[in-house]
Amino acid sequence: MIETEATPHAGQPSAAQTKPKADAPRIKPIVEFNSVQLGYARVPVLASVNLSIEPGQFWCFLGPNGEGKTTLIKAMLGALRPKRGQVYRNPEVFGKGRVSYVPQRLELNPVLPTSVREFILTGLAGVRTHAEQRRKRLGRVLELVGLSASRHRNYWTLSGGQKQRALLARALIRDPGVLIIDEPTAGLDFAAAQTVLTVLADMHATYDVTIVFVTHDLHIVSKHATHAALFRGGAVLSGELAEVITREKLGHTFGVPVPVQVGPGGRPQIGVAVA
Ligand SMILES: Nc1ncnc2c1ncn2[C@@H]1O[C@H](COP(=O)(O)OP(=O)(O)OP(=O)(O)O)[C@@H](O)[C@H]1O
Ligand SMILES: [Mg+2]
Repeated sequence: MIETEATPHAGQPSAAQTKPKADAPRIKPIVEFNSVQLGYARVPVLASVNLSIEPGQFWCFLGPNGEGKTTLIKAMLGALRPKRGQVYRNPEVFGKGRVSYVPQRLELNPVLPTSVREFILTGLAGVRTHAEQRRKRLGRVLELVGLSASRHRNYWTLSGGQKQRALLARALIRDPGVLIIDEPTAGLDFAAAQTVLTVLADMHATYDVTIVFVTHDLHIVSKHATHAALFRGGAVLSGELAEVITREKLGHTFGVPVPVQVGPGGRPQIGVAVA
């Protein structure tokens, strides 16, 4: 339980460090946390979060179960109010529905049969589109996630992995500028997980979509992320990949040794045996 504010780890950029000089033009962040405390009723979860996510970045959130990754995402989405500190949510992004979210679990009860097609189209709620645009977007996202042949099936009868793909398609159909995804590859077979990752990497590289990705898969981090945030003991250590993904910091986060090698271009490679 967190009684007091956790001290940020050494090397954690403070809000002051991350702010550029007054005369430098500043890209408006998508979301920025300044000394934010988060929790539920009497349960403190995160003590003092400083984090700034800018357009075009690919973030991975990492940490053991129950350390507050989903909680931080709820605050990002405006679904959880901070107990202290400020959360800036860029109105150009959040106010215009340019954010899509793929939840860790879908808290819905199957009531009525819903086709995969209908389910994915619910992702367009609040977005103005013509019938023809809807048809095109639907065809594109069905193809991206590999569900074209299942479009008329009942969503509730899909397997867990197929449901995950449909959830991703529902997020993508909005054509988001920011995609926030909570463990999209958990429980997926190898091919399905690869499909999801390929789609995300393509969204990021080709369409400059900003990605916030919660994962327990360290290989994904080495391969795709530009930035990472480590969650442990109520603190969040965040920054550029090479600053955050070190043997010491990952070891502290997970409580077990995690081998990290520096790969080409200074990119950390995680889980590679160190000679
Ligand atoms: N609605 C809630 N009410 C009370 N406590 C909650 C609630 N949601 C989460 N918690 C608690 O907050 C803490 C952080 O939970 P959170 O879901 O953010 O963890 P997480 O890092 O996403 O974990 P996981 O890797 O298992 O998904 C946990 O101790 C959890 O039990
Ligand atoms: Mg979670």
